[in-house]
Amino acid sequence: MGLQDELAARLAEARARTLLLVAPVSEEDLRRQHVPLMGPILWDLGHIAHFEELWLLDNLRGDIRFGEMPGMFNPFEHPRATRASLALPSYAEVLDTLAAVRNRVLAALERAPLDDPSIPLLHGGYVYNMVLQHEYQHDETILQTLQLKQGAPYAAPRAAPVRSPATAIDANAMAYFPGGEVEIGTTDRTAAYDNERPRHTVVLKPFEIDVAPVTRAQYLAFMDDGGYHRRELWSDAGWAWLQEAQVEAPQYWTHEDGEWRVRTMDRTAPAEADVPVCHVCAHEADAYARWAGKRLPTEAEWEAAASWDPDTCTRRDYPWSDDAPSPLLANLDQLAFEPAPLGSYARNVSPIGCYGMIGDVWEWTASDFVGYPGFQAFPYAEYSEVFFGSEYRVLRGGSWATRPGAIRNSFRNWDYPIRRQIFSGFRCARDV
Ligand SMILES: [Fe+2]
Repeated sequence: MGLQDELAARLAEARARTLLLVAPVSEEDLRRQHVPLMGPILWDLGHIAHFEELWLLDNLRGDIRFGEMPGMFNPFEHPRATRASLALPSYAEVLDTLAAVRNRVLAALERAPLDDPSIPLLHGGYVYNMVLQHEYQHDETILQTLQLKQGAPYAAPRAAPVRSPATAIDANAMAYFPGGEVEIGTTDRTAAYDNERPRHTVVLKPFEIDVAPVTRAQYLAFMDDGGYHRRELWSDAGWAWLQEAQVEAPQYWTHEDGEWRVRTMDRTAPAEADVPVCHVCAHEADAYARWAGKRLPTEAEWEAAASWDPDTCTRRDYPWSDDAPSPLLANLDQLAFEPAPLGSYARNVSPIGCYGMIGDVWEWTASDFVGYPGFQAFPYAEYSEVFFGSEYRVLRGGSWATRPGAIRNSFRNWDYPIRRQIFSGFRCARDV
């Protein structure tokens, strides 16, 4: 299959998934602003159509007038909390727009000179991969909204998980990284975002890092030990958040009949389990780490633990190898609708022995979101650069809700350290 055909097939597959996720949702629930934190899903769907129109039609040849489309579907003009006040079209109208844009995009794709190195936006299909990842990322945003939604819980279209043979993992074990020079980031220009480049060398001190994300059972031990009430475990910013938020468990945990239960979409289960804890903010992760006598890893430590083989001084695109994710390798791609028990994916292991670094839960790091040395915005500043600074914290590794095409060892996600509606967990590190 030629690149044009492959991209057309991937565009169709991405759209089928988006529509599968929203199929169980009523028009009223698509239009509703369920919480101020998340916009109406109809807005996300319209935005997906107009972002595709902007980049795969208007900007296609590299003459870029706007990075985001002016008007109703511009995310900067219309922050999430305000989107319910927009005169959003009906679902049928949004579907028509999605299909009409796609028809024009496919016609343009047939003529697009993807092998012309003088057009970096098109070369190797970059801009198509960017638009595909954009839709994948909005799918995950839509799933955050569906988990938060008011009224009847979202009837998740679950698929039976395909799992490789399980392996036994000691949740308390740590892997050793010997330190030294490590290559961080990527040189890829066909799919990676600007913030993953340039590849550069960092020098790390030796450290240990948890072989698995912190589990709900481990997190429960922190709660039972008074974790949410002990000032000494929290940073100043974390304690201030806790006083305001007044929480004593991860989001979606409820205390019923003397036990904690966890809701994922339309199901609840007892909290006590060897399943990665999800829906904690960076402050909670930080407090847990202090309680455990550890700390959060920096993002360079995280990437080294996922990608670097200290014996051969080589890096991998994924923890297991350079091979793209498959359903046997990692809990990605949404349809499990929850993190998997530890050890469900025996091959999802990095060179130094860390499991589950890709999939299950995004992992908070200790690092602010900043550009790498020599960063250059491409193809527009509004994707990464406008978010650089000390306000945002980096998360790594993707979650069960992440599509495989939108994750790799070098991928950097970012959010405010107080956010917990994202599918976020963590693992800890410590100096040696
Ligand atoms: Fe977007």
